[in-house]
Amino acid sequence: MRPVTLHTERLVLSIPTGDDVDAITAACQDPEVPRWTTVPSPYTREHGEEFVEKVAAWWDEGAETVWAVRRDGELAGMIGLHRITEHPHGGDAEIGYWGVARFRGQGVMTEAAHAVVKWAFGELGLVRLGWRAVVGNVPSARTARAVGFRYEGTLRQGLTSPRGRDDGWIGGLLASDDRTPVDWPVLS
Ligand SMILES: CC(C)(COP(=O)(O)OP(=O)(O)OC[C@H]1O[C@@H](n2cnc3c(N)ncnc32)[C@H](O)[C@@H]1OP(=O)(O)O)[C@@H](O)C(=O)NCCC(=O)NCCS
Repeated sequence: MRPVTLHTERLVLSIPTGDDVDAITAACQDPEVPRWTTVPSPYTREHGEEFVEKVAAWWDEGAETVWAVRRDGELAGMIGLHRITEHPHGGDAEIGYWGVARFRGQGVMTEAAHAVVKWAFGELGLVRLGWRAVVGNVPSARTARAVGFRYEGTLRQGLTSPRGRDDGWIGGLLASDDRTPVDWPVLS
C-alpha cells in the first residue's frame, strides 16, 4: 500500500521519515510514553531509526499504517492502525497512539483519531476497530470514547509489554456504529 496523507483542520498526518527521528527520540524520553505503551525504555536514536524503517515496510505490506501527527510542521504525536487483518466478512485493526507532551490536552489526538477512523472505515473498508490500554490510562480511554469507541471489558493480565503483564481495558468501534460518544463504566 502507498502511504496515505490525511488532513484535518489543524493537523497533517503523514508517514514518519528519517527527518522525524530526532523528534521521535526526544518525545519518547517522556516516561508517560513507555509507561502506557510498548515503546522501549530507555529509547535511543537507533530505536527511532528502526521504527521509521519498520513503518515504511508495514505500509508497503499493508500490515500496519502509521502516521506522524504534525501541527504547524512540528511532530505532535504518532497514531496507527495495527494488526490489520483481512476477512471475507470485513477486516479489522487496532488503533494506537501517543502524543508529544507539550501538545497534549488540546484535542490533538482526538482530531487525529477522527481522521484515522474515517479512513479505516472508508477507504480501507474495515468493519471493526479495536482499542486496548493498560487499566487506568484515562487520557487514552477518553480519546477512544471521544471518537465513538464503546467500552467492552477488562483483560486480566492480558497486555504484554517490556514492563511485563498488565490488566487491560478493551474497547471497540464498528463501521456501523453511531460515533456519538457514550458513557464508559470505567470513566466517571
Ligand atoms: C493518550 C494521549 C495520546 C491523548 O492525547 P491528547 O492529544 O492529550 O488527547 P486530547 O487532547 O485529544 O484529549 C482526549 C481526551 O482525553 C482527555 N485528557 C487528555 N489529557 C488528560 C489527562 N491528563 N487526564 C485526564 N483526561 C485527559 C481529554 O479531556 C479528552 O477527553 P474528553 O473528550 O472526554 O474531554 C496522550 O495523553 C498520551 O500521549 N499519553 C501517553 C501515551 C499513551 O498513553 N498512549 C495510549 C496508549 S493506549
